[in-house]
Amino acid sequence: MRKPVIAIDGYSSTGKSSISKIIAQKLGLVHLDTGALYRGITYFALNNCIGADGEINLSELFNRFNEIELEFKPVDTELVMFLNGEDISTAIRTNEISQNVSLIASQKEVRDFLLDAQREMAEKGGVIMDGRDIGTVILPNADFKFFLTASVDERTKRRFLELKSLGIETDENTVRENLISRDKTDSEREVAPLKKAENAILIDNSDFTKHETIDIILSYLKEF
Ligand code: C5P
Repeated sequence: MRKPVIAIDGYSSTGKSSISKIIAQKLGLVHLDTGALYRGITYFALNNCIGADGEINLSELFNRFNEIELEFKPVDTELVMFLNGEDISTAIRTNEISQNVSLIASQKEVRDFLLDAQREMAEKGGVIMDGRDIGTVILPNADFKFFLTASVDERTKRRFLELKSLGIETDENTVRENLISRDKTDSEREVAPLKKAENAILIDNSDFTKHETIDIILSYLKEF
């Protein structure tokens, strides 16, 4: 029997990735965190494509796509992001990456570079993919689509605790401002903006725990 393709989109820090990871484990699916791809390109740009003005030189980045090999590889029970053979899964969570990733993700060249690879990963089914444009652009024919949202206060609290657990120093204000600014850039960009697919199920999980949100999603997946 063919396994389902599930798209989970939504605002920053609504728990998309951690929820998708647990659902994948429960149902024997592959979980792909597409945000890690955009963060990986941002990591490459910050390390290799800084212009004389100290900013990322986008044309240099576009010319060097052939030097970028991003791969999800299994480590323990999950797939983590490698860039040219280096495990960058923790390095891509820093404030510096979070502050630059939405600019990188708004570039058509970057989205085109990642498009086919994402579709190929879902071709055989059995995938839960989380991001911003999965249900609208990458996998418009997904079997299930969910769109997660939550209050800014709740999301700030969650991201702050997540970063703390990764040993990344920050404060709640920085986290809050980054969430608000990323959501704005992601929603307003011209190419593949963050928005709910018409046929996606909307879940506001401000008042739900992670496990309550998982149970809600699983209750829809039973129908497959
Ligand atoms: O999911 P995460 O917060 O790690 O994503 C980081 C950034 O990558 C988002 O703020 C967004 O700019 C970009 N992104 C995207 N499309 C996706 C996944 C992430 O534009 N499918």
